[in-house]
Amino acid sequence: MAHALQAARAYPDGVDVRPLSDDIAAEIRGVDLGRPLSDAVFGAIYDAWLDHQVLLFRDQALTGRQMVAFSRRFGELDPAPGTGTGPGPTVVDGVPEIHVISNVMEDGRLTGSDGVDECVWHNDMRDTDLPPKACCLYALEVPEAEGDTGFLNMYTVYELLPGALQERIEGRTIRHVAEAARDGLGAAGADVARLPGVSQPLVRTHPATGRKALYLGWRRGSSVSGLTATESEELLDVLWVHVEELGRNSWHNRWRPGDLVLWDNHCAMHRRCAYSAGARRILHRTQVKALPR
Ligand code: SIN
Repeated sequence: MAHALQAARAYPDGVDVRPLSDDIAAEIRGVDLGRPLSDAVFGAIYDAWLDHQVLLFRDQALTGRQMVAFSRRFGELDPAPGTGTGPGPTVVDGVPEIHVISNVMEDGRLTGSDGVDECVWHNDMRDTDLPPKACCLYALEVPEAEGDTGFLNMYTVYELLPGALQERIEGRTIRHVAEAARDGLGAAGADVARLPGVSQPLVRTHPATGRKALYLGWRRGSSVSGLTATESEELLDVLWVHVEELGRNSWHNRWRPGDLVLWDNHCAMHRRCAYSAGARRILHRTQVKALPR
């Protein structure tokens, strides 16, 4: 199922790109992300990201600033969601772009966010006007052999949809209502269409690869434009069956400290797997702004 680009591409010497499954993700060896990258090396990483949607770099030792410097090669960064609000996020190295994912308590306060919401397939920040085009996750402390993160190739999900279903969703948008997602209002029967939300194209054409991907964002609090609530729920149920089916065999990263994973947040969905109560899990995330549509 690998895309033709993968076979055709020649990467410069020293950048070793090893696919991790037939369909998604590659490990990049031979690159220290803590050092400034030449344009040739960065170009190879960028091409590999387009080809594989998810890149894994092992054994990195990055400060917050180094992680931000690498992420910025992909474009301007979005600040961490929720920065500056409430008891909320810990600021790392004075950089507001790092979102801390953590279940660790310090001084009676959670040092990051680590909700169960991450355990279902989703795209990060789908309820913002322009969800980031790429996200980076860097592991500091992770439980052994659990708490993996799975990634799902949404080009493939789209390409395997029956033609009639592809036609049915072409040109439609999907609307996300953060409030409904958070409070389960849709499931509780509230009229989600009346709540403020943002719309994203349901089928996204990647500006660089020209390939189409299904963009669902998240299930709860979402609805498809131009349909009644019932029609929208029926259509989303059908689309999500495809996601769940393909997701069963998708590639998951079994985290090791020092892993950095970079993914295309428009063409890949991800989810975290469960881990034992009492295990510590701390990762840093950056999010690269999408270009305005
Ligand atoms: C995320 O959803 O961005 C985080 C996933 C994870 O913690 O594995």
